[in-house]
Amino acid sequence: MWVENVVLKNIRCFDNNELSFKRWDDKTEPSRWITLLGENGTGKSTLLQAMSLLLAGPDGARTLVPRPIGWLKDDTTYGTISLVVHQGQHDKGEYGEERKYTRFSYYYYITGEKTVKIQEREYNNPTIVEASGYNARFLSWLKKNAFNSSGNGWFAAGYGAFRRLTRDNRIIIPSLESPARYTNFYAHFEEDKGITSFERWLVYLDYRRIKDEDSSSVERQYQISIEAINGVLPDGVKFDSVTSSGRIIFDIGGRKVPTIAMSDGFRSALALSGDMIWRLINAFPDSDTPLSEEGVVLIDELDIHLHPLWQRTMPGMLQTVFPNIQFIVATHSPLIAVGAGREALTYRLMNRDGVIKIDDVSQDIINSSADDILTSPAFGLVSTFSPEVEHLLARYSELLENRRLLSVNETKELKQLELDLRGIAPYKVKDELTLKVEDYLRRKVEADDKD
Ligand SMILES: Nc1ncnc2c1ncn2[C@@H]1O[C@H](COP(=O)(O)OP(=O)(O)OP(=O)(O)O)[C@@H](O)[C@H]1O
Ligand SMILES: [Mg+2]
Repeated sequence: MWVENVVLKNIRCFDNNELSFKRWDDKTEPSRWITLLGENGTGKSTLLQAMSLLLAGPDGARTLVPRPIGWLKDDTTYGTISLVVHQGQHDKGEYGEERKYTRFSYYYYITGEKTVKIQEREYNNPTIVEASGYNARFLSWLKKNAFNSSGNGWFAAGYGAFRRLTRDNRIIIPSLESPARYTNFYAHFEEDKGITSFERWLVYLDYRRIKDEDSSSVERQYQISIEAINGVLPDGVKFDSVTSSGRIIFDIGGRKVPTIAMSDGFRSALALSGDMIWRLINAFPDSDTPLSEEGVVLIDELDIHLHPLWQRTMPGMLQTVFPNIQFIVATHSPLIAVGAGREALTYRLMNRDGVIKIDDVSQDIINSSADDILTSPAFGLVSTFSPEVEHLLARYSELLENRRLLSVNETKELKQLELDLRGIAPYKVKDELTLKVEDYLRRKVEADDKD
């Protein structure tokens, strides 16, 4: 499955906004990587959570958020969230006898504390209400196929900014229940729950490959999982073993470290990728290459805990290990935006006097350095200098601008600033030749204007 677009109406900060997830350079194809940028409070998390609710299906959504309190901007009416999804090649189900559909649109209403009427029915509590009319037919079919809870639903998962492996210092017991599909979105809504599934899964596989008589399929899953997990870890860090007491050990530059003792950065990367691996294998039990199957993964604040070096490589690693997943991620990091590659679609969310505007800034990102991106419209022209240096640069520009009218003291100040800035930000200091050319051009324009 992949998502073509999402629309939010009257939801938190959004009045009525739409985002398309087709490639920026080829509108007929899905974009496999979408980066959402924007200042704090511009709605990135809201957008991702609304998508999680839609991708979880209506029953899953109501389990994840039984009472959507505070979701409406104008609480005298209802809000709507809608999605257009495409069925993937290996996704379950066939819609339509004469005309097959693989593109489905559907929506939910969100109600608030005030009484509203939807389709002749009154709601006076925060509730998620399913689509009506034509979309309802799509939705009821999707409920049986895409959102089916027992294993084979279409693959999607959502991860909030607080995802982490548990630090519970306990022994993991090799047993495993199969996951209900809505739990794919747990880590998006349950801030306090650690992600334990992947650890339990690995311990379980390790146990079964030793105990089972015919363990070839278990062995394969074990190998796929380990290869994938090593694929998202930086050089010098790799899976080592599972101990007889059920602890997972990693090799970090030659040292053996159990997951509970690993740093937050490693644990957050492991929590995310490990969980995806486990859930993909469960969603596609008959696939030889479960990690290459299609699906949608939403990640809030992908950069969290990651060193800049790893921020830049993480998008590429995820795309290599999960080549057919459509990733939709929110981040404050220009390195994640750059690391996502040339084909990535990048949106910037902005608050303009209380109204959210969304711009496609994909082309600002391509061919730019992280420094350029920060100072481009994609990030809102943030200065990459310290406030003190920024102040010196502002004064230098001001004096330079008026250099023909300066007092003796100001001329001295300009010379001093030039000297100081040569040491701190040499490329911001204009050389003699540039100044002469600028002066010449200015005089020429002034003369032309007089003529
Ligand atoms: N009921 C509401 N009506 C209007 N605005 C709301 C309502 N509830 C929340 N908001 C606003 O909607 C925005 C939601 O922000 P959200 O958490 O999605 O932003 P974000 O882009 O993820 O920010 P950050 O980068 O800090 O994580 C906030 O600015 C919040 O003040
Ligand atoms: Mg957020």
